[in-house]
Amino acid sequence: MDQRILQIAVKVYNYDELNSDDTQLIDEAIRATERSYVPYSSFCVGAAVRLSDGTIVSGSNQENAAYPSGMCAERTTLFYANSQYPEQAVDTLAIAARKMRDNLVENPITPCGACRQVMIESEKRAGKPMRILLYGRKGIYEVASAADLLPLSFDADAMN
Ligand code: THU
Repeated sequence: MDQRILQIAVKVYNYDELNSDDTQLIDEAIRATERSYVPYSSFCVGAAVRLSDGTIVSGSNQENAAYPSGMCAERTTLFYANSQYPEQAVDTLAIAARKMRDNLVENPITPCGACRQVMIESEKRAGKPMRILLYGRKGIYEVASAADLLPLSFDADAMN
């Protein structure tokens, strides 16, 4: 038997320890939570990406009466960024959330599995890591790449 332990590094920052590029991106993700369409969950999620040329794109979750037809903030944002700016890598993705359309979460929310899969595809397509910033009032998590959030992920390499 061969046991392999997979570990990831998560750095935790206070908001005022971050540089202005990162606080700007987080602020955009927070602002995006105000544009969430969440009549069913009242859980507002915002995402913002900084592309390699500095462009910022943001998006929010968009729900639907047919629940599975809704979309998370992360995928709304990444699909838009990748379709509008296909040549640009995503350098950093920031995520913020508020409960009941009210207070920003104390502890960061982490992306769902489907969003992680899409983040990995975007990262592989760009050929460089996508940094992830997860906002919480009590601390901001930084993860160095999307691959860190989905160990043993399935990707195109498996089919080759
Ligand atoms: N949601 C996101 O937008 N991103 C996440 O990372 C987790 C969940 C949305 C989906 C749905 O609109 C609401 O939050 C509750 O699950």
